[in-house]
Amino acid sequence: MHPFRLVLNRNHGTPGIVALPDSGYRRARAEITSWPGYAPTPLRQLQYPGLATVHYKDEGGRFGLGSFKALGGAYAVLRVLVAELAKRGVAPNATGAALEGGAYRDAAQQITVTCATDGNHGRSVAWGAQRFGARCVIFVHQHVSQGRRDAIARYGAEIREVAGNYDDSVRAAQETAEAEGWFVISDTSYPGYTEPPRDVMQGYRLMAEEALAALPAPPTHVFVPGGVGGVAAAVATQLRSMCGTEPRLVIAEPDRAACLTDSLDAGRLTTVGGNLDTVMAGLACGEPSLLAWQELERSAFASMALSDDAVPGAMRALAAQGIEAGESAVAGLIALDCAWPDAAARAALGLSEKSRVLIFGTEGATDPALYAQIVGLKSPSRD
Ligand SMILES: Cc1ncc(COP(=O)(O)O)c(C=O)c1O
Repeated sequence: MHPFRLVLNRNHGTPGIVALPDSGYRRARAEITSWPGYAPTPLRQLQYPGLATVHYKDEGGRFGLGSFKALGGAYAVLRVLVAELAKRGVAPNATGAALEGGAYRDAAQQITVTCATDGNHGRSVAWGAQRFGARCVIFVHQHVSQGRRDAIARYGAEIREVAGNYDDSVRAAQETAEAEGWFVISDTSYPGYTEPPRDVMQGYRLMAEEALAALPAPPTHVFVPGGVGGVAAAVATQLRSMCGTEPRLVIAEPDRAACLTDSLDAGRLTTVGGNLDTVMAGLACGEPSLLAWQELERSAFASMALSDDAVPGAMRALAAQGIEAGESAVAGLIALDCAWPDAAARAALGLSEKSRVLIFGTEGATDPALYAQIVGLKSPSRD
């Protein structure tokens, strides 16, 4: 058993702001499902004794980028380009297909998009920029692995390293963009900066819709990894829209970057400092996204802070079931593995033999060398 911290949201079910209106989601869905290579990712049933069903939404194959983040950043890049080309009098309403076909190539190349990333979001932004013809600069902090940097650079983006942690790289991207007249496509929002992250999150909802549509019955419990909370908030919104308020959403975070767990505990948006160093690289975020928090403060049922020590075992357990899951993807499974055998946590979450659990497995082996190092050398067994 690995140590964990469980916090229930005492404001669960209270009314609140609609951060992600359905109209914005319909637009995102229509665009993204029209992209070449679009296909729903697989929903796999896990062998999990004791619970009625456990399904795992496997995002490893998303658009060949390795994670659900392909749905968000690239779409937000398109939205910024379309708006900017209209403002510059180039095209009143350019489409993604026209941009991809090179219709406004010269004008699009004058536009630079940028963001901070711990890997997957930057890959999506770089991919979108390359497809739609913009210039792209991506900021990474020192702990972002070389494998992840290379994967971004392959889409033609310039990579710049920033001292400090993820939150420092967010600030560096913001400050440079202001000085240079670039456009920040962030997956996190803060006061005064909400529109690209809103589009990013609207894109993520497609992952949740696919999973919920593919399930034989609505889930009773949904486990989702938490970084800045964007994907959790997108899942929460889509869950409410398709299944009402019954399913319980549980956020799964590393204990070294548990800003959402701490925020639910405090009842207000709370930031975590330090180097946030965790093997769950995509979840190494210390500041919740404002928009995500507005959604989650009323709709998250609970949040769990988890130990890095549990990651290899969970990755190997999934590998044994034929699923290639990256370090951040396994947070939801770890949370379930911690809560299910623990009588108090099980009762607090209302887990029973009747529960139908849905886990979002948000990435595949996005850093193949690291994946091989963690999973490849030992026989698959849970620690
Ligand atoms: C694989 C993976 N899962 C989950 C997350 C968390 O998403 P969010 O920051 O929107 O909470 C990330 C973020 O980078 C990620 O890369």
